[in-house]
Amino acid sequence: MSQSNNSIEDLKNQLNIVDVIGRVVPLKRAGSNYKGVCPFHNEKTPSFVVSEQKQIFTCFGCGASGNVIEFTKRYYNLEFKEACEKLGRENGIEINFSSSRDKYLEKYYEVNKEAARFFYRAMTETANRGYAYMKNRGLEDAILKKFGIGFADEKWDSLYNYFKDKGTDEKILLELGLISKSSKDGKYYDKFRNRVIFPILSTTGKVIGFGGRTIDGSDPKYLNSPENKVFQKKNNLYALNFTKQDMGKADYGILVEGYMDVISLYQRGVKNVGASLGTALTENQAKLLKRYTKNIVLSYDSDNAGRKAALRGIDILEKEGLKVKVLHVNDGKDPDEFIKEHGKTAFLELVENAYLMTDYKIQTAKSKYDLTSEEGKIDFINEAGEILKNLSPTGKDIYIKKIAKELSISEGALRMEVMGNNDGLEPKPLPVYPSREEEKKIEGLSNTEASIIKCLIVNPNLTVKLMNNCDILESPLSLKIFKLIIEKYGSKGDFHWSEILEGLSLEEGQYANQRLNSVIVSGNENQVFEQCVETWILEKKKVRRDELMRRLALADESINGEEMNRIMAELMELNLIINR
Ligand code: UTP
Ligand code: MN
Repeated sequence: MSQSNNSIEDLKNQLNIVDVIGRVVPLKRAGSNYKGVCPFHNEKTPSFVVSEQKQIFTCFGCGASGNVIEFTKRYYNLEFKEACEKLGRENGIEINFSSSRDKYLEKYYEVNKEAARFFYRAMTETANRGYAYMKNRGLEDAILKKFGIGFADEKWDSLYNYFKDKGTDEKILLELGLISKSSKDGKYYDKFRNRVIFPILSTTGKVIGFGGRTIDGSDPKYLNSPENKVFQKKNNLYALNFTKQDMGKADYGILVEGYMDVISLYQRGVKNVGASLGTALTENQAKLLKRYTKNIVLSYDSDNAGRKAALRGIDILEKEGLKVKVLHVNDGKDPDEFIKEHGKTAFLELVENAYLMTDYKIQTAKSKYDLTSEEGKIDFINEAGEILKNLSPTGKDIYIKKIAKELSISEGALRMEVMGNNDGLEPKPLPVYPSREEEKKIEGLSNTEASIIKCLIVNPNLTVKLMNNCDILESPLSLKIFKLIIEKYGSKGDFHWSEILEGLSLEEGQYANQRLNSVIVSGNENQVFEQCVETWILEKKKVRRDELMRRLALADESINGEEMNRIMAELMELNLIINR
């Protein structure tokens, strides 16, 4: 048998998850499953279950779950491919990774790599303004080399001609955003001109996109590759491929806003850094970081935008279970400017003194109000109450005392604000398995709901497809709207949005209009609709899973064995679908 033809599927088929996990986590048989102490969170009583039958693991405590590859990825902090290779190596299975999808994307990566090399040669082989610019900003040759920083000259067709000579398909260049087609004369031209080029690499080391900084003051300051098949901003962090090991070693990572901040810190010896590519942090980026460290220091600009970005970032990172601190470089500088002027030690001192997130939120709230006035104090106390509500009882106590002392306000008043009016004697809330879906369930319309409604408005006939599935909707407003739509559609086989609006209150109508305006489905409504419904069904399953997990997390020894088995069976089933 030729071993080299093994696919990932073959690998999974040939391994037994119980053996693989059993080598590193002591497992005990429990009915038809195996149980052990979860390696992914701290616990004393085992809530980590491995199903031999389904070949998956699930932790009822922290929610970790997946198949044998997922386990290996998480346990050893590996990328998907690395995990497969490790499993293959240890079990004598050689894997062939080049599935047809990989081969097809490979071309895109290849072209990006070629472009990166082209820009790098332009930066290093002859004198040019990009090099002068970087020198002027204090960057050394070694750092340009490390990050592969290049230069796009001012001509309109340097890169295009290079690829034309090689016979590269223009469609690929267009899709990657390296060239554009002129609407006037149909000629192709280079997108990046007169810019210093920062190649963006995935954590597996593939060139997925570029950021180009202007050196002649033209707009935009940074031009980035458009989203495409190989470049999704939300799934990547700039420089992480170079710095993930450093984050692991230091056991914390510093997130900054910009390309220049990253390389400037790196050059001066602060290597555990990454940047979020100029957008708000995403859940996937948080997950990515979590593979390397659980501690994050956000080092954003101290202007308002930076503050807002930091606050949003905190929430996203915290939801993924990361510990977050925030630091602001003082006197309006960004990390690059700061470390250039004051050096590594001074910057690390700032890191050392970074605010814990609660301090940070409180501090931000404080800066909003005039605390010398009675009114300002009251407003601040209100807001502080909101912030402290989510803390543990001990956390609440500490902060209540601290803030009361600092602002010389009554501890009692603050306590009342935080605890409600029963002096903090309310029963402790039960530990609850965090359900992201639940938090998302705001009063209004979720993105998926808004999209579904928009599709129905564009093509009322889609209503038929939803009639059997309308229990997939969650929010009261969406249910109300759907009831109205179904009523109208049922009676005359059509409906108009204005008719639906009549059935809503003024506020609801205004809100819905505003929400729907931001959703664009034109021309694609059938596709968008199918996708949304699918997403929706999956989300429902996740909600159900979290509910079951919560039930199990709260269950003590007295839980009925049969009930337990039933829940576990359903959970495994759900996990299989969700992880598919
Ligand atoms: P900043 O405007 O703070 O720039 O944008 P910077 O990083 O300090 O850059 P220098 O020092 O002026 O060269 C922060 C990040 O936001 C994104 C980029 O990722 C940038 O690094 N950004 C900014 C864009 O994508 N486009 C822009 O036009 C501006
Ligand atoms: Mn800067």
